[in-house]
Amino acid sequence: MSHERIPRRRFLKSVAIAGGAGALTAHGWSRVLGANERLRVASIGVGGKGWSDHTSVADSPHVEIVAICDVEEGPENLGKAAERYPHARRSTDWRRLLDGSGDIDAVIVSTPDHMHAPIAMTALRLGKHVFCQKPLTHTVFEARQMRLAAAKAGVVTQMGNQIQSHGAYRTAVKLVHDGVIGKVKEVHSWQSGPMRWMLVDDRPAGADPIPATLHWDDWLGVAPSRPYKEKIYHPHNWRAWQDFSNGQLGDFGCHILDPVFLALRLTAPATIRAEAEPLPREVWTRRASVRYEFPGTELTAGTTLPLTWYDGAGHVPPREAVGLPEGHRLPVSGSLLLGEKGSLLIPHVAAPRLFPEEKFADHEIETVPARDHYISWADACRGEGRTTSSFDYAGPLTEAVLLGSIAIRTPGETLRWDQAGLKITNVPAADALLRKTYREGWEPSWQS
Ligand SMILES: NC(=O)c1ccc[n+]([C@@H]2O[C@H](COP(=O)([O-])OP(=O)(O)OC[C@H]3O[C@@H](n4cnc5c(N)ncnc54)[C@H](O)[C@@H]3O)[C@@H](O)[C@H]2O)c1
Repeated sequence: MSHERIPRRRFLKSVAIAGGAGALTAHGWSRVLGANERLRVASIGVGGKGWSDHTSVADSPHVEIVAICDVEEGPENLGKAAERYPHARRSTDWRRLLDGSGDIDAVIVSTPDHMHAPIAMTALRLGKHVFCQKPLTHTVFEARQMRLAAAKAGVVTQMGNQIQSHGAYRTAVKLVHDGVIGKVKEVHSWQSGPMRWMLVDDRPAGADPIPATLHWDDWLGVAPSRPYKEKIYHPHNWRAWQDFSNGQLGDFGCHILDPVFLALRLTAPATIRAEAEPLPREVWTRRASVRYEFPGTELTAGTTLPLTWYDGAGHVPPREAVGLPEGHRLPVSGSLLLGEKGSLLIPHVAAPRLFPEEKFADHEIETVPARDHYISWADACRGEGRTTSSFDYAGPLTEAVLLGSIAIRTPGETLRWDQAGLKITNVPAADALLRKTYREGWEPSWQS
């Protein structure tokens, strides 16, 4: 496999884009495409979920994948993408890929969560349109920076919570907006499936040989260094670890809470409190509940809206809290909105259902067609239409989700959130978790 060669001086400039004292300050530009021009897209993190991200975007006849990047050169990752896009520029280092990137209009970021912000912020500051996987970032501070940087760059953005564009979720949002269940008093959301990653209690001893195809130091990126251990982190199992992810809530919150946010037009929570076992040193807990209080909106019944999140195998809301008929089994994951005129169950992902069933027996649900979450981003980059999960929306949603993860790391404390001041005002240990320390040599210029 041939990699592009970039002179050392230019490479150092690219490192400066990612971070470091001499970071580029110039904002890039986004090209206005002519009617027959194709959007030139770079995909970073091309295996795993990245595969469906770039292939879905490339389904548009108006898109060309011009650059691909992955730290894993093997046949399931960069190798496979190189076969699919033989003419695409390729690299194992996203900094090199984005350096001198006048040939790229838009960037897809599908790496593990800890690298979303460093890569996406660099792309935004270069004036690229960005599609970034969920959760938008690894920390609350990063989510704020991404929203601000996207607004400043004036580019088209979309978070990869593609289920938002599913007809079932869109239908659920419309039911609430149409007032079918009245104003909403309370919400319960849950993910009661087993963790979908290898369960570990602590960091395993020793080191395994780094596979010849894997650039382990680049995989670690901004995260604290550690020896490579087979299957423990890469691929997929990084989800278990606080340094790379935000656990079950971080993994699913931006999906499951998304229709609730949209339906009720929620913004920032006022308080957050978790009940959870104290966390093992480095991994995420296996069971938690988080109670948020949101300021009420025109769609909620009171001046505040309580929303409770439940995660862990078999952990669903208590039956008495949700008031569903005897014998009714809740889906493995989803949300239940308790309204003044009835309740709405939003399974993750299936058609929404109204309760009490007798009351709504004759109510014909008007279904809303699906959108294409990927192609709508590519089209919007070309000036056609808008995205629905732009960073303007996805930033605050991610902030709320990650505040829940902070609460899980400081259980039993009611955290008071000052959204405007980007501060948890009453628990210094929780406030410190809004940000993180970046590995030496990888410090981003936008961190302070
Ligand atoms: N929207 C969804 O339904 C959905 C589903 C699964 C995963 N995801 C998200 O997608 C992202 C990736 O998750 P995954 O399960 O595919 O993880 P994964 O570990 O299976 O795959 C990540 C891919 O990125 C590559 N990679 C890792 N670090 C990189 C770097 N610094 N530069 C370039 N490439 C790098 C890996 O080699 C691999 O090809 C995560 O943010 C995750 O939350 C979203």
